[in-house]
Formats: sequence, C-alpha cells, structure tokens
Amino acid sequence: MSGTGAAIVLVIVAIKIGIVVAVCYKRAQARSEAGVPDSRFLTLTIDKFLFDMEREKPIRFSSDQLKIATDNFAHLLGSGGFGAVYKGLFSNGVQVAVKILNGSSDKRIEEQFMAEVSTIGRTHHLNLVRLFGFCFERNLRALVYEYMVNGSLDRFLFQERRTIEFEKLHEIAVGTARGIVYLHEECQQRIIHYDIKPGNILLDAFFIPKVADFGLAKLCNRDNTHVTMTGGRGTPGYAAPELWMPFPITRKCDVYSYGMLLFEIIGRRRNLDINLKESQEWFPKWAWNKFEKGETVEFMVVCGIEEKDKAMAEKMVKVALWCVQYRPESRPWMGLVLKMLEGGVDIPTPPNPFQHLVIGTPPNMIDFTSWTESGTTGSASSQMVVGSPFVNSTPVMRKYQIEIASA
Ligand SMILES: Nc1ncnc2c1ncn2[C@@H]1O[C@H](COP(=O)(O)OP(=O)(O)OP(=O)(O)O)[C@@H](O)[C@H]1O
Ligand SMILES: [Mg+2]
Repeated sequence: MSGTGAAIVLVIVAIKIGIVVAVCYKRAQARSEAGVPDSRFLTLTIDKFLFDMEREKPIRFSSDQLKIATDNFAHLLGSGGFGAVYKGLFSNGVQVAVKILNGSSDKRIEEQFMAEVSTIGRTHHLNLVRLFGFCFERNLRALVYEYMVNGSLDRFLFQERRTIEFEKLHEIAVGTARGIVYLHEECQQRIIHYDIKPGNILLDAFFIPKVADFGLAKLCNRDNTHVTMTGGRGTPGYAAPELWMPFPITRKCDVYSYGMLLFEIIGRRRNLDINLKESQEWFPKWAWNKFEKGETVEFMVVCGIEEKDKAMAEKMVKVALWCVQYRPESRPWMGLVLKMLEGGVDIPTPPNPFQHLVIGTPPNMIDFTSWTESGTTGSASSQMVVGSPFVNSTPVMRKYQIEIASA
C-alpha cells in the first residue's frame, strides 16, 4: 500500500473510533441524566467495596448507588424505630440490608455521624451484624448491613412457633450473650446497646444469632415507640427501669433487657399478652411465681418444654430472674450471665425481682459486684455517673477511617 493509501486508512479508522467514543459518551450522558448510573461504575464500586471490606473500613455510598442496589427501595424487609429496612443486592451477588434513618442530614451532625459509624463498622464478632457502610446525603441517611437470610428472632418466637428446637433456642440465647459480652467487655470501644430485644437479634442461614443495631442509640432520634425522655433509649417492656428515671445508666441496662429477651425465648411468647388469663398476662412475674412455689412441672407444660430440655430451661429461668433484678447492682455482668448459661458456674437462687411491685416493700439490696467472677467487669460499677445517661455510651472516635464508594 502506498503512503497515501495508508494515510487514508488511518484517517478512516480514526474517524470510526471517534464515532464510537462519541456514541458511548452520548449514551452515558443520557443515562446519567435519567438518573441511572453506568453499571461499569457500580462494578468498580463493588471491587472497591470488597477491598474495603477486607480492610474492615466502613464505606461511604452515594444515594444513587443504594438506589441501584435496592432496585429503588422495592423490597421492604421491615421497619422499626429508626426507619425502614430494604433488601439490596450488589452486582457481585453480595446481599445487603439497607436501613434508612429518619431525620434530616444536618451538616453539623455529619462529623459525629461518621465517627459513630466508624466505631460500629470496625466492631466485628461472630455474633454481631456486620456494618458494610453508610450513606450521608441531604436526601438520604442510611446504613448498609450484611443481609441475614432468616430475619429476626421475633418471627420465630411469636409467629412461626416451634420451628426451632429448644436446644437451638438455647444456643441462640448463648450466642446473643456472647455478642453482648463482646460489646460490653472485649471490643476496643465499649458499647452499651440500649435496645436488646428479639427484633434486634438476626439469624443467618445456620441460625447463628447476630446482635443488630448496636451503637445506633447515639446516631439518631427514635420515634415514640421508644423511650425518649432519657435521651432516646430502649423499647418499653425491655428497657431497664433506670432508663425511665433520672438514675445512673450502666451496661447493666442491657443485662435487664437480655433477661426480658430470655423470658420470651423460654416462653416463646411476648412477655406481655393481655389475651391470656390475668395470672399469665405478664410472663416474667408468672414465671417467678411458679419458680418460687416450686411448680416447675406446670411451668414446663405451659411452655411446651419437653422432659429432655427441662434442666436447660430451668437454668435459663434462673438466669433471666437474675438479669431482671430491679436494682442494677443486683444484676450480674454479662460475662457472668454467659458463664451461667454455658454451665461454667453454679447459679445461686435468685431473689424476687418484682418485690418493688409489692407496695411498701423495698427492692432487694444484693450487690452482684461482690459476687462477680468476670475480672474486667467487677470494677465497672464505678463508671456510673449520676444524672448523665450519655456518659457510658459509645465513645466518639476522634479519628475515623471511612472510604468513599466510588472509583
Ligand atoms: N441485616 C438484616 N438482614 C435481614 N433483615 C433485616 C436486617 N436488618 C433488619 N432486618 C429486618 O427488618 C426489620 C426491621 O428492622 P429495624 O431494626 O428497623 O426494626 P426493629 O429491630 O424491629 O426495631 P428497632 O428500630 O428498635 O431496631 C427487622 O425486624 C428484620 O426483620
Ligand atoms: Mg432493629
């Protein structure tokens, strides 16, 4: 081919490439104008997402990215005090649960929000739900969690009764306790949960329990189904009495809620059921009455507990009665609760946790700190600060590490 011929071919090729580039550019422009980001962008995002997951950093997503992952928030998983939760799927097959947080995204709270998210995102344990990332934009505040295929424990306790064997329920109780022990005693930034309840215990494909929503109490304001008078903590029925009063708040408030959860696991019913006869309406009180009178056979029959599970159930009742003691100092630390459930220590006979309900009778004054076995926890009662419900909550990280989810 002559020099002129080669030049013509080169010019034609260059024009063709130019046309292809122009068409691609126009298409991408049209897509972004229509609010649909390029899928290649999302793929890049996911690669980075997995990379960051390995590095254990929470990732900052844009609202567009979450819109794509949730198919424009099409699949509602449920909703609670913070807002709605939607199922999402990233293009690499990773399933997520996107929790939309109510309230505005004030610039002033962005710093605080990211610091809290950073703490939550770097708190890892087999029995804690993993936070992948978050979104903080004017129109959307959201948290992105790992998706738990079996949903929350309340479904199995109150709806699909008897689908989980009692032994498995015991394992779920123990795993949940492990998650809380980690939050209270083992992780770098000690965290009080404030909202332990069956709706916040999620179950993976193997029914391994994962405590959800830890660290959230400081992140948002709740709706009126939650305690608000002392700073937006807890859910009625599970919240410790001190959360409703201007009294010191410590990790013992989670122990109380855990005790209430334990009762619901044992009874496979909501603790309060006004459809039942009066004596059985409030399960914890009924359980105490049966326990006190030694009427365990009737207790097991009513709860549908088989002979083989009787000893395990009795142990769980005793632990629950210790956990819901009225005075925080009478409740054991979570580490000891775990040991009791695992059978590592003998469980003394619990005193009546409902003594204060009998008018004129002072609540029992047992101080559990002198009885505790778990070394690190014994001194924790000294952390109580009168009149400040915030002091013992999740500390704010000064330096946080967050990655933007774009390439
Ligand atoms: N990571 C997750 N995987 C699967 N389902 C989830 C996940 N997170 C939440 N859900 C579902 O969404 C429901 C609502 O969760 P949400 O946390 O908003 O409410 P809640 O736990 O009932 O109350 P609270 O606001 O006090 O936590 C849960 O009960 C659960 O069924
Ligand atoms: Mg929840």
